[in-house]
Amino acid sequence: MTSETPERTPPRVVVGVALVQDGRVLAARRTRPASAAGRWELPGGKVEPGESEIEAARREVAEELGCDVAVGRRLAGEVELAGGMVLRAHVGEVVSGVPEPTEHDLLRWLGAEELDTVPWLDADRPFLPEIAELLRRT
Ligand code: CDP
Repeated sequence: MTSETPERTPPRVVVGVALVQDGRVLAARRTRPASAAGRWELPGGKVEPGESEIEAARREVAEELGCDVAVGRRLAGEVELAGGMVLRAHVGEVVSGVPEPTEHDLLRWLGAEELDTVPWLDADRPFLPEIAELLRRT
């Protein structure tokens, strides 16, 4: 018998990391796909099966920026992405190495008053007010 009810699979989580240092957050400019090229994001990517969000965040930053980070608390909320995915974001700090882009074409450290100066991916924008607030406190 076939069921009329589609199977409910939990959304795949994409994790972004708000790397904070000296009162600024690291923004990375995407190069792909074409629809996202030139838009800025919190570095990160998909959580793989069996991985925690924090493990995925550390792995993605190591792959994309070549540095080790400590990943801390989650920012409030989550954003639905296309393809049944959701974006969550955590605060993080570089613990060793200097971020150098391997997949992005530009990195910028932005202060609270500069967050609006780059075209973020739409999905990342809802996290910006909380990031601005935490930058102002640091
Ligand atoms: O590298 P991986 O394939 O794991 O992930 P990705 O291609 O970087 O990101 C997966 C999806 O999440 C894409 O649709 C990205 O546009 C989106 N994403 C986002 O909206 N904001 C981020 N900070 C990171 C990823």
